[in-house]
Amino acid sequence: MQKITMLGTGYVGLVTGACLADFGNRVICVDTDADKVEALKLGKLPFYEFSLGEVVTRNVAEGRLSFTTDLPGAIRASKVIFIAVGTPTGEGGEADLAQVFSAARTIAANMNGYKLVVQKSTVPVGTGERVLRTIEGLLKRKKLPFDVASNPEFLREGSAVEDFMRPDRVVIGTWSKKAEAILSEVYRPLYLSETPMVKTSVQTAELIKYASNAFLATKISFINEMANLCEVLGADVKTVAKGMGLDKRIGPKFLHAGPGYGGSCFPKDTMALAIFAREAGMPSRIVEATIEVNREQRLRMMATIQALVPRLRGSTIAVLGLSFKPMTDDIRDSVGIDLVRMLRARGAKVRTFDPVAMERAAVELPKTIYFAKDSYDAAKGADGLVIATEWNEFRMLDLGKLRRLLGRPVVIDTRNIYDPIVLTAEGFRHEGVGRGRRVPARAGDKVKPAARPARNAAASKTPKAAARVRRAGTAS
Ligand code: UGA
Repeated sequence: MQKITMLGTGYVGLVTGACLADFGNRVICVDTDADKVEALKLGKLPFYEFSLGEVVTRNVAEGRLSFTTDLPGAIRASKVIFIAVGTPTGEGGEADLAQVFSAARTIAANMNGYKLVVQKSTVPVGTGERVLRTIEGLLKRKKLPFDVASNPEFLREGSAVEDFMRPDRVVIGTWSKKAEAILSEVYRPLYLSETPMVKTSVQTAELIKYASNAFLATKISFINEMANLCEVLGADVKTVAKGMGLDKRIGPKFLHAGPGYGGSCFPKDTMALAIFAREAGMPSRIVEATIEVNREQRLRMMATIQALVPRLRGSTIAVLGLSFKPMTDDIRDSVGIDLVRMLRARGAKVRTFDPVAMERAAVELPKTIYFAKDSYDAAKGADGLVIATEWNEFRMLDLGKLRRLLGRPVVIDTRNIYDPIVLTAEGFRHEGVGRGRRVPARAGDKVKPAARPARNAAASKTPKAAARVRRAGTAS
């Protein structure tokens, strides 16, 4: 058991603090926001995360988890201090580390014995060393012992508690055996259950985090690029991904083509990595391309909507899904939010629905947006329906009812949750991502006359339109 201070009760801090308490440690979670701390004491979480409420309530009740605004007091009462403060994107795209260094200064000012300062927030490589120098500089000749460590998190929103309790690995970056032993003790239950522990230097641990996120983001941009190629060539990206993913060296995960990655991590971390790699004189061309492909993918979604609903001004579009992915109410860098904004900017009216993110979205989006009761209410009279997040409840819509409610039977499925053949059979005009199904014309086949006039006009507009024209006469 270790006495721990968790500095910051944002997403990472709260999940980590509550779960470390569940491992048997005594954890004090500190935040500067007094209202948030009061709410947490009453068991009210500042965001939605599956099963986190239970873990918080249980550990508060059992006396292992507490909340306070008193940072100096918490530092003095703990041996291990985790820094899990925000590292927002700075003006130039780099990570803004102001809160990290402010935390380091407060720790230095309140040392009353050995402290292990563990960096949990994602920070550019070299930050651990800078934190060490900052504390050393402030302690001057006071020879108070301390260590700095890096312990990156690999939690996914929506399954963070499960990810914490059953991780693929724990990365422990230290420069001393003492720090390594303390962190191993903090994670004792995982150690005992033989979870792989990667014990390494601080800077290596810092890079493991960025390299992992950048690699996953690259997988997504890669499959999105293949999806766009599929549209032009008449192939199906879902099956391409399946065929690739069955190769154990590739694996099936993070190969879902879609509108591009969003959320609070991948966009920020890929950008920060690209910047510090350039600054180190070693630009990452792959990560830079990943970022560019991702940016274009979102614009392609808008182009797809425009291709199916050409006169957007004055039209009504239903957007299903506002959170950046299912099982969370987080709308940071979310495709749904972006599409709503782009649609409004082009003069369309928007009706939208999300199972949990509407409250948050209402704060961000213009007042003119209609927040619907459910998916069907959103669809009423709309000239097209866009699926922006793959919530389970959107996978099982009554398609007949949806078609009757829509003003025009148009579906843009940016998450590929519907089978194009089913949508066609139900009478929809539709488009997914990379769902080409071209069957070559055979000698003697009749070509549908309607396909011809569209060919040149559409083909010159977008690759997507070209792909659609190629498919004319087949499925959709
Ligand atoms: C991501 C990583 O998966 C975590 O390991 C990491 O700890 C976390 O960032 C972080 O750095 O804190 P998260 O942002 O919660 O977790 O969400 P993911 O499930 O990774 O999804 C990120 C984005 O990629 C979403 O927009 C999702 O829709 C998109 N995605 C994911 C795809 O477009 N295709 C896929 O195949 C998978």
